[in-house]
Formats: sequence, structure tokens, C-alpha cells
Amino acid sequence: MSQLTQSPRWKALREHRREMAGVRMRDLFAADPQRFQRFSLRLGDLLVDFSKNLITEKTLGLLLELAHQQRLSEQIQAMFRGDRINTTEGRPVLHVALRNRSQRPILVDGEDVMPEINAVLDRMRTFTEQVRSGRWKGHFDDEITDVVNIGIGGSDLGPRMVTTALAHYHQPPMRFHFVSNVDGTHLSETLKPLRPETTLFIVASKTFTTQETMTNAASAKAWLLSRLGDEKAVAKHFVAVSTNRKAVSAFGIDPENMFGFWDWVGGRYSLWSAIGLPIALAVGMDRFEELLAGAHKVDEHFRTAPFETNIPVILGLLGIWYNNFFGAETHAVLPYDQYLRLLPSHLQQLDMESNGKSVTREGERVDYATGPIIWGEPGTNGQHAFFQLLHQGTRLVPCDFLAPAQPLNPLGRHHSILVANFLAQTEALMKGKSEQEARRELEHAGVAGPMLGILAKARTFDGNRPSNSIVYKRLTPETLGMILAVYEHKVFTQGAVWNINSFDQMGVELGKQLARAIEPELEGRGAVASHDASTSGLIRHFRRLGLG
Ligand code: F6P
Repeated sequence: MSQLTQSPRWKALREHRREMAGVRMRDLFAADPQRFQRFSLRLGDLLVDFSKNLITEKTLGLLLELAHQQRLSEQIQAMFRGDRINTTEGRPVLHVALRNRSQRPILVDGEDVMPEINAVLDRMRTFTEQVRSGRWKGHFDDEITDVVNIGIGGSDLGPRMVTTALAHYHQPPMRFHFVSNVDGTHLSETLKPLRPETTLFIVASKTFTTQETMTNAASAKAWLLSRLGDEKAVAKHFVAVSTNRKAVSAFGIDPENMFGFWDWVGGRYSLWSAIGLPIALAVGMDRFEELLAGAHKVDEHFRTAPFETNIPVILGLLGIWYNNFFGAETHAVLPYDQYLRLLPSHLQQLDMESNGKSVTREGERVDYATGPIIWGEPGTNGQHAFFQLLHQGTRLVPCDFLAPAQPLNPLGRHHSILVANFLAQTEALMKGKSEQEARRELEHAGVAGPMLGILAKARTFDGNRPSNSIVYKRLTPETLGMILAVYEHKVFTQGAVWNINSFDQMGVELGKQLARAIEPELEGRGAVASHDASTSGLIRHFRRLGLG
């Protein structure tokens, strides 16, 4: 048994879970008119209502005690101090330094990292202003009209999600494309409508060794050279974002056109670094800095607010409540904001790559569940797809609903319909509908006989299904920065309580290793050996059919 599951706080929560077995949220609301005020928090333009959770003051008290028992506060301070909290890789974790608008010195090995960060931001400003103003010219003196970001994982998801989310602020008009998949279709279809003369490629890779990105970048370079016919064109059409200067210059990109970052920035936390270059090209550096400022506001809140009023801490603890004491396996993220349609995918990597771990920081196997499966789709689309399961399925799926109060594209009654749906879903999940209520409705509609009982059962909603409502005034770069930082620190909180290293990703290595061994066999350059019968059989099948 692990220390955590044997600990007094964990045991107390387990016991409390039993006490909560028959508790209905409906009744909690009926008994306490102050429940919304009691269980909601505000920060700037953000309101987080967590009152529609299966919690009482006692639940929250016990969860907060758990956080204290697990020394969450010390762990937060350690991150902000630049301690090497990524223990398996021996690195600090300092995405918070990238958006440290206070300029408070942050030391790594006794050296303040802020001057370096500011120097890269300055270079990003100069470069983005050149491209956006049309002063940056392609090989044949054309202005750039299309930017293609080539990267994968954190070098794709974060910048793609934010660039998409801030479409309202794109100015001047340029088109942004993101190529991540090594499937040649992704690059080919992206390049089809593009003119090399007016296209700028950003090769975004922390390591500059990631197979997918290097393969796509090499093919993009070949495409450019085959059309422009001059190796010198690379300097005007390729820039890199990486920590690996040597590999960047070996690829043929002038290090002058490279934007650096540091090994203390995890891939999934890197959109705040030069990996955010497509964002800055799209919305300009001032707006990019507003994004950073929003995140910084949440960093300060996370670092200094008492846990009772600390939004990421509360969201993290609520997640633990369902994950570890109700057996919830997944967590749904449901933005009622079309601009945030890629948020679930971004959070999927952020959360699942961070907390999908089975060993503690001391190398012991955990005997409790760690990171949940994160998934979701924007509302209202999800309502017509998987909400059936959320409402009447056999699983408990805690949900986050997000929505702006004010739309960026006011159009007739669209926004009030959207928000009404947002509110109705959280209300329905919480309240449900009893069999008696369903029966009354049916009788009223004239249903009788044996179908009455069957339909009443089919139309019963258990309710008591938890959700958080995250409401922001309108989607601005600053608000978006806040939302993203809230989720980053929620993930931190959970990893800290579970005593896992949220900042490595060893789990992606084995597949990469095996793929390298399979490639030559697939291409007929080696004997099909040393695999299980299924893998060998499939390799031979692919070989027989031919790979094209
Ligand atoms: O999938 C593993 C991973 O290392 C992610 O953590 C990272 O975001 C992605 O690959 C891309 O890595 P890089 O930026 O080094 O190309």
C-alpha cells in the first residue's frame, strides 16, 4: 500500500465518500441558497462556478487538507523558484518564467533567466513586425501570405489551438497552416494551394530530432527548392524554433533565423515561448504579450492565493475527488465557444502526457488512479453526439463547461441560444428528472397503458452529475492566457498530490524505438525478425501489398 492511500487524509476522504453516497446535489441547492456564492470563484474576467459538484464544505475541507498533507504549497514554491522538479530529466520547470511580466528574477543555476527570455521576445517582435508589415520579402521579393508551422505534439497543438482561438484578432490577413502528421497527405494537401514564393515555413521542434517534424520539414524544403530552384531561397522561407542550434544549422536553416528556447520548457507548456511564433505572426506581438500577461495573472494567483480561493487548486482537487473516490475514468472539456474548438485536444496532451504515469517520484508503482482521459468537443455539437451518455449512461463523467458572456460575432439570437444551452446542460446534469416527474409529464401528454411505465423509465435522468462552469467576459488574448494557465496549474496540482513527475513523457519512447526497428523491415531492407506473430504477419502483409 502506498503512503498516499494509507495516509489519514486519504482514508478520511474514502470514509467521506461513503457518507456522500445518498447525497443529492438538488437537495444541497435547496438547503443552501448561498451555494452558488459559496462555491464559485472570480479572478479578473473569469468566473469559475463549482457549485454543481457533489461536494459539501466538509468535502472541500478534506480535499484541502489532502493538498496540505501532500505539501502542495512547497511544491508550487519549488517550481517558481526554479528547482529541478522534473526529477527524471534533472530539469527545472519554468514555463512560468516565459510569462513572468513582473520581471522578478528567476534563477537557474544561480543565473537569472529573464534577460534571455526578453531577448527572444525582442527578436520575435522584430521578426513578426517585418513579416506582418510586408518588409520581410521572399526569395523573389514577394510578401508572405501563408505561414506553415511544421511541428507535432506541443510544437503543434498549443500554437495551433491559440492561433485558431484568436482568429478574431488576426491582422493583417495572412493564412496559417499547421502540418503535424507524418502521413504525407497532411503536407501534400496543405501545400497544394500554396505558392512557394509567398510561403514561410516555421520548423518548430524543441529537440529538432522528432521524426515526423524532420520528415515533413525535409519534404517541405524539397518542395520549395524544386519550385524556386535555388538553395539560397531557404533563408527567406524557413525559420526554426528549437533548443538545438546544431541540428537547425545542419538542416540548412541559418541560425540567424532560429528562435531559441530552453530545456526547462516542456513541449506541452511551450506555446508561451518562441513556439508561439505563429500566434505572434497572426495577432502581433502586443497581443501575444497580452496572452502572456493573462497567464502571468493566474501564475501569481496560483503562487499566492490561499488554497480555499485558488482556482487551479480547487479544480485539481475536485478532479481528484471524482478520479480517486468515485472511480471516474474520464473528464470532458466542453467549450461553448467555437473559437475554443481545439481546446480539448490541447488539454488532452497537456493533461494526459503530464499525468498519465504509474510510478511515483521515488519509483514506486502507484496503487491509485492518476491522470484521467481528457476528451471533449465544442457545444452545442457535442449535445447531438455524446451527451446522451453524459446524461443517461452508466458512467460518471465530470465535465467542464466554458462559455463567454459576450460573443465576438454577435448574430441575431445565436449567442443567447448558445448560452441557454450551456446553462441547460449543466442544470440537467445536476438536477436530472425523477421517474415520477417523467411519468407526470407523460400522463399529461396522454400516454397510458403498459408504455407509460416503460417510457417513464427511459425518460428518467439520474442527475447528480457534476460539472464546473467557467464563464469569461469575452475571449481576449488575456482571457485565453488565463484559461490555459488555470488548466496547466490544475494539472500541476493533481501531479503534486499524486506524487508523480508531471514533466517527463517516457511513455512515448517505446513506440518510437520499435518504429525505428520496423521501418527497414517494412521497406524490404531487412529480414522480418524478432517480432510477435501478429506484428510479423502484418509487416509481411504490408510488404505483399506494397507501400507505394
Ligand atoms: O510526443 C512526445 C513529445 O516529446 C512531446 O512531448 C513534444 O511536445 C513532441 O514530442 C514534439 O517534440 P519536439 O518539439 O522536440 O519536436
